[in-house]
Amino acid sequence: MRQRGRSVSMDAAYRSLGRADGIRWTPAGVEVEAPPARLAVRFLAPDVVRVEMTPAPEVPEPLPFARTEAEWERPGVAHEERGASLWLASDAMAVEIQSDPVRLVFRDGEGRLLDRDDPESGMGWRYGSVHSFREARPGDRAYGFGEKTGPLDKRGQRMTMWTTDVLPHLPTTDPLYQAIPFYVIWNAGRAHGLFFENTHRTHFDMDREGTGRYHVWSEGGRLVYYLFAGPTFAQVLERYTRLTGRMPLPPRWSLGFQQSRWGYVPQQRVEELARTFRERRIPCDVIYLDIDYMDGYRVFTWDPKRFPDPSGLCRGLKEQGFRVVTIVDPGVKVDSSYPVFREGLEAGHYVEDPAGKPYMGRVWPGEVHFPDFLQERVRRWWGDWHRTLLDAGVAGIWNDMNEPADFRVHDEDRTLPEGTLHRTDEGEVHPHREVHNLYALLMGRATSEALRRMRPQERPFLLTRSGFAGIQRYAAVWTGDNSSWWEHLAMAIPMLLNLGLSGVAFVGADVGGFRDDAEPELYARWVQLGAFTPFFRAHSAHDTRAQEPWTFGPEVEAIARGAIELRYRILPYLYTLFWEAHRTGAPIMRPLVYHFPDDPVAARVQDAFLLGPDLLVAPVLQPQARERMAYLPEGEWVDFWTGEVSRGPAHRVVEAPLERIPLFVRAGAMLPMGPVTQHTGEAGWQELTLLLYPGEAPSHWKTVLYEDDGATPAHEQGVSSRRAMALAVRERHLALDLADPEGSYAPARREVGVEVPFLPGPPRQVLLDGRQLAEGSGFTYETGRGLRLQVPQEGAHRLEVAW
Ligand code: GLC
Repeated sequence: MRQRGRSVSMDAAYRSLGRADGIRWTPAGVEVEAPPARLAVRFLAPDVVRVEMTPAPEVPEPLPFARTEAEWERPGVAHEERGASLWLASDAMAVEIQSDPVRLVFRDGEGRLLDRDDPESGMGWRYGSVHSFREARPGDRAYGFGEKTGPLDKRGQRMTMWTTDVLPHLPTTDPLYQAIPFYVIWNAGRAHGLFFENTHRTHFDMDREGTGRYHVWSEGGRLVYYLFAGPTFAQVLERYTRLTGRMPLPPRWSLGFQQSRWGYVPQQRVEELARTFRERRIPCDVIYLDIDYMDGYRVFTWDPKRFPDPSGLCRGLKEQGFRVVTIVDPGVKVDSSYPVFREGLEAGHYVEDPAGKPYMGRVWPGEVHFPDFLQERVRRWWGDWHRTLLDAGVAGIWNDMNEPADFRVHDEDRTLPEGTLHRTDEGEVHPHREVHNLYALLMGRATSEALRRMRPQERPFLLTRSGFAGIQRYAAVWTGDNSSWWEHLAMAIPMLLNLGLSGVAFVGADVGGFRDDAEPELYARWVQLGAFTPFFRAHSAHDTRAQEPWTFGPEVEAIARGAIELRYRILPYLYTLFWEAHRTGAPIMRPLVYHFPDDPVAARVQDAFLLGPDLLVAPVLQPQARERMAYLPEGEWVDFWTGEVSRGPAHRVVEAPLERIPLFVRAGAMLPMGPVTQHTGEAGWQELTLLLYPGEAPSHWKTVLYEDDGATPAHEQGVSSRRAMALAVRERHLALDLADPEGSYAPARREVGVEVPFLPGPPRQVLLDGRQLAEGSGFTYETGRGLRLQVPQEGAHRLEVAW
């Protein structure tokens, strides 16, 4: 891959900030003149500082689309001059601004060093580019950076943010589809984050040469960054997503299993596919239509021969509990008989070449123009065209090729020339090099706003390949064109984990692999892993072997069914995690270090992950493996399949026959589980069972179960149910406290099942709200199946079990 703009380090053209020559205190900050440059440092919140270096007065501000209009609590900030330094301090963070030359040092509320400029090179510029050299400390690990291949910890890597359509991707391939200039540094148990708000091509050299410094530079604009003090990953993510926004709660159906393939034509084949899922009793919620549903790849059309009756198709599928999601690519076919093209042309909606003519690119339809999503009027126009799909009954949209990909350009970028022109609604002109990274974010915004506008009673669902910081506000993200290789199965874990640590919680990789042929065993292992990723979709390219679950023979079909059924069972747990991501920006799929920050071994685990706080997933990532090594962090872990209790920290060899993915529950956890249904809307989906995992040692856990209608935005008005639950375990005794559910949503059930699948021995006493229950009528117990009973849904209840 191309390595542009090698680290400039200290060549003669580089100028770093010099001596401060005048300061001005501002509310919560300070402005420092260091001619020709200016520096502004400001606290947005006690634990968030914004730094802006303008190399010269005429350099424009960053395009603002990554950010939301978040309200910040006003921080109390003290300031003073101390010797040759200026100091700004809140109760969570202090910034020292050394004045000759100007260098920044960040400390936490206790005075511990958080992050600092490299004393020699600091911040500066070189021709039109802006640079930040930062100290890299021994023991730092670097996470985030959006969607990157390679290892979980990016210390020592070099990466570029430039949204790119690339295939195949390899562990060294960079950049990919997403550009998220954000990272989290972990060191000795503490985390802090940095977001570089710059839409130009931006490079991160995370101390590749081992010289003890990081170098971040953008090929234009100002140097603007935000530092988030932490010290937990959760706090960093909460702040970062306050700035760049959070995922709206998606419709519940988009948490189900989804089947896709490039080449599901004609209509009858799609109908047959849906029927096959139901006949074979493999749960599935969504079927995707790839580019072949369109008429000659003209966006917002249907191929009249292959899809003569789109409404009938969507209706028929809906009756069986399927939703249809259609692909929408940005390129508009150049064809004067095609209304979308004509309208766009007449209204001047397209990106232009330097001569002022619509830029002509080449994608699936042949020659195309690209809508200029920088303009609100274009976003609105584009959004309104989705009516053609929604009227037919399409439930969600899939944005692809939105880097944007352009086959006409044959260098590795495969995108529009950098000098192509975009305009704002006010007529200001911005070159593509500045807008490129925002293209998919703006297209996503157009789409998600249109879905909301046209169907205000339904939550929008959008899937995207490309994006920028803030994409989580509009879309779920899949990791693009992977391959049916074991290496890609393994790589999906660090990729998805780092996306989650970049504010994008709703993520997944093509299950089975997009390119090349999946072998049965690979498919089996992939569907087992996919069942625990937030977005769970199987997809494959048109020239690969069939990759539906039943095409690999009965053994793998049964394995896939089992994995997908388990996915449906964990939906109540998963949905609560989605709610948490929506409220706080927390990832759903988390690296072990997220919950075990003081464990240096956990900090480098990238072959396993936590789904929320309570489930540790250790997928099999190698062919022929029937056991694997899993690292269990501190505490007790209950084997989900056998009930065996292991005490961490420890490496353990776990049995993993082909039909089983190694899975551990944190001892003391309460897992809310649903029934196996064929789709998320099937009658009975609101049945709920709490599985209790007391473990052996005393413990006390608290959690909340979140529920709502799963479909409408009513939850934004508080129509939801939040139920606090606590489990206390002491020797041979457990007590479960279920609080009265809060909120105005009442799930359709009278009772909640409670099970202790691995109760260590027969119960001596079972008390519900102080009343003793009798075996047979009040509860059942069987070795191998454990204890089972029902408690009323309404009201607060306390269950005590002694054994
Ligand atoms: C791109 C997408 C892939 C899709 C194909 C055809 O390669 O990443 O998912 O199937 O285009 O639309």
